[in-house]
Amino acid sequence: MKKRSGKIAGNKPRVRRKRVSVRHAESRANAVFLVGFMGAGKSSVGRVLGDQLNWVFEDLDDRIERRAGQTIAEIFRNSGEAEFRRAEHEALVQLLEELRGGGARIVALGGGTFAQEKNRRAIQASGVTTIFLDAPVRELWQRCTEQSTPGSERPLQVTANQFRELHKARLPYYTTATMRLDTEGKSIDDIAAEIVQALGLKRIIIRQEQGEVE
Ligand code: S3P
Repeated sequence: MKKRSGKIAGNKPRVRRKRVSVRHAESRANAVFLVGFMGAGKSSVGRVLGDQLNWVFEDLDDRIERRAGQTIAEIFRNSGEAEFRRAEHEALVQLLEELRGGGARIVALGGGTFAQEKNRRAIQASGVTTIFLDAPVRELWQRCTEQSTPGSERPLQVTANQFRELHKARLPYYTTATMRLDTEGKSIDDIAAEIVQALGLKRIIIRQEQGEVE
């Protein structure tokens, strides 16, 4: 399982600006997929959301690792990125198949998942809500650098230049998500709270507290 700090590193207190734009208000939110570049906070925010909503949280990278019996870094090292992308797509298809059976889930995608066309198509066709966790690339770089410990390095975090170029190339895909949320300078809890509010999930939590919803 990916072990990274549960906090977005590099946060500085800043003036809060609320920038949530919902594109398809009609999307049903029984599964929420968190999308965004490395360091966006997909896994940390997803874990908090899962706890708050009492929904199962899943990190797609963990599923890939379980299926392959290797860590993400080992797959990249032993078999290369193309093999990783193949394994990622298969894991995603399996997950979407499971979701068809119902049940609420929060899913953190890998940074490259939504940038692959066939993945994006499969996700969008499934009708799940996708949320792009956005942040300036310098903050993403800083968060990844601060989270990096021996054995948990991200294979695609190489040089700052390459990181910036990859981010630029993927941005147009991330922005096709159902919703975009600006995470700059915000804590994990703040981001999770904004998602709950934006999706109207607060009602579910309140009803759960009142014992109306399992
Ligand atoms: C990747 C991001 C990683 C992981 C793999 C590839 C990418 O996930 O899926 O190393 O292509 O950006 P995180 O975004 O959780 O770091």
